[in-house]
Amino acid sequence: MKKLVVLTGAGVSAESGIKTFRDSDGLWENYNVAEVATIDAWDVNPALMVQFYNERRRQLKTAEPNEAHKIIGELEQYFDVTVVTQNIDNLHERGGSSHIIHLHGELTKVCSDRGKRCVQDIGYEEFEYGRKTEDGGMMRPFIVWFGEDVPLLSQAAEAVEQADILVIIGTSLNVYPAAGLLYYAKPDCPIYLIDPKEVQPVTRRVEFIREKATVGMRILKEKLLQCK
Ligand code: APR
Repeated sequence: MKKLVVLTGAGVSAESGIKTFRDSDGLWENYNVAEVATIDAWDVNPALMVQFYNERRRQLKTAEPNEAHKIIGELEQYFDVTVVTQNIDNLHERGGSSHIIHLHGELTKVCSDRGKRCVQDIGYEEFEYGRKTEDGGMMRPFIVWFGEDVPLLSQAAEAVEQADILVIIGTSLNVYPAAGLLYYAKPDCPIYLIDPKEVQPVTRRVEFIREKATVGMRILKEKLLQCK
């Protein structure tokens, strides 16, 4: 089976009702990104951050995977698929994908603020700031905030390096290191990019499909099935 890597950003979940980042003037669901998504903010107002991610978890509970997530899941019948996502939601899992690299962490998990140990799955449960983890640290969302390492980056880069086909969906390619991943693709690896808007120019040749994720994936599925 050919190796298909699908790199996704907020746009793949937009049609599931989850807002993108840079379409909302630097606000993330009405919060200032600097106050809820940076490691420095955890020292300043951790309670606000816990509340913010509790809200995101509550929202995720009622969101459903859309057709794009589902088509990516279905493609496992024909390809060896790895999803590399910048999204913290679990809509790829629920859409049927089984091999997912969550570069920026996972909303349904928590960990200790001491070196991100004691990772636990809490599903959609909410928690109060002040709860302790087994190692005596403070419980925090298992999210990669700005200013933190991206531990799964090398695993993601390796997947892209081995890809026979690369598909990029719904990311403004603004945030590094994730945005640099496409440059790991082999020179002859076809790259498809699905986004309704003009995306930052890339120096690699890509085939643009200027559509929303659901329509774009419907079109792309037909093309991919011809070259499986
Ligand atoms: N289908 C496909 N793409 C869409 C759709 C849609 N229905 N709606 C919007 N988009 C596109 C936008 O045109 C934009 O190019 O999705 C992209 C979203 O870009 P961003 O909001 O910048 O999101 P993303 O690239 O995922 O952000 C990367 O930044 O804030 C951090 O850690 C956060 O993971 C996030 C990272």
